[in-house]
Amino acid sequence: MIASTAALARHGREHGYAVPAVNVLDDLSLRAVVAAAVHLQAPLIVQLSVKTVRSTGTELLTSMFRYATRDLTVPVALHLDHCPDRSVIDEVVAAGWSSVLFDASDRDLVTAERETAEVVAQAHAAGLDVESEIENIVGVEDGVGSDVALHAYSVEQLAEVADRTGADLLAPQLGTAHGEYRARPVLLPERVRELAALTDRPIVLHGGTGLSADDFAAFIAAGVSKINISTAVKVAYMRAAAAHLDVARERDKWDPPSMFRDVAAAVEGAIVPLVEQFGAAGHARGVARAVR
Ligand code: 13P
Repeated sequence: MIASTAALARHGREHGYAVPAVNVLDDLSLRAVVAAAVHLQAPLIVQLSVKTVRSTGTELLTSMFRYATRDLTVPVALHLDHCPDRSVIDEVVAAGWSSVLFDASDRDLVTAERETAEVVAQAHAAGLDVESEIENIVGVEDGVGSDVALHAYSVEQLAEVADRTGADLLAPQLGTAHGEYRARPVLLPERVRELAALTDRPIVLHGGTGLSADDFAAFIAAGVSKINISTAVKVAYMRAAAAHLDVARERDKWDPPSMFRDVAAAVEGAIVPLVEQFGAAGHARGVARAVR
C-alpha cells in the first residue's frame, strides 16, 4: 500500500524524528534506498525530480515504485519533488502518487498563494498531499531553482498562507541549500521553532546532504519531521560506478550486473547512517499502525 507523505511526517513530528525523503534516479537507486529502509525498519518517502519524471516517464516510475515496494512491512510514500510545472503535477495526480511539492517560489506571493490553493484542491480531491514552497530553497537541483534567494517572508506570513491554501507540509527557507556546501551554511533551527509554534503542519528540511548529525538533531528538536536527501545518492552512485569502471578498465573485464551491485551497495551504505541520524530507525511498525 502506498503511504501518505503527510501522515508519515506527522508521525515523525509527534515522536521526535524525521522521515527520510530520498531522491532516486532509477530502479537501482530506488531498490537500494528501499533496502536501507527495510534494513532499519524505517518509514521512507521516495522522491523523484521533475527531470527524472520527464526522462523516464510517470508510468514507468509508478510501476517501478509499486514493484519495489510490494509486500513491504515498512510504509513508503511516493513524492514529486520541486515542481513548478502544473502539467507534471496533473500527471502524477492521475497516477495516484502520495504527494507533490508545488514549488511556487518563482511566483510573487499573490500568484503563489492562488496557484497553491488550486493545486491543493486538485490534489486533495484525488487523495494526494501537497508540500508547499513559496520562499525558495537556494540552489539549482535537476534544473529547478535559483542560486539567489528570490522571496523571503515572515513565519507569520508562511503560517497564514498555509492556513488559506490548506497545504499539508511546509518547506520554508532554513539556511540550507541544495547540492554540496561550498561554505558552512548559517542554519536556522530557531526559525523552525517559531514556525512550529504557529502551525501543526509538518516542516520539511531541504538540502540535507552535507549537514552533520548535530545539525539534523537541532532541526528535529525544533520540529522538522521530513528531511530531503538527493546529492548524497548521486555522489555515492557515481563514485561507485567510477571506482568499478577503473577496475574494469585495468582488468579489461566488462560486466554491468557487477557494477549495478557495487552502485546499489554504495547507495544503501550512504543512506543507512542518515536514516539512523534522523532517528527514523525502528518506527516502521508504529507509523504503519498509526496511519492505518
Ligand atoms: P541535497 O541535494 O542537498 O541533498 O538536497 C535535497 C533536497 O532538498 C531535495 O529537494
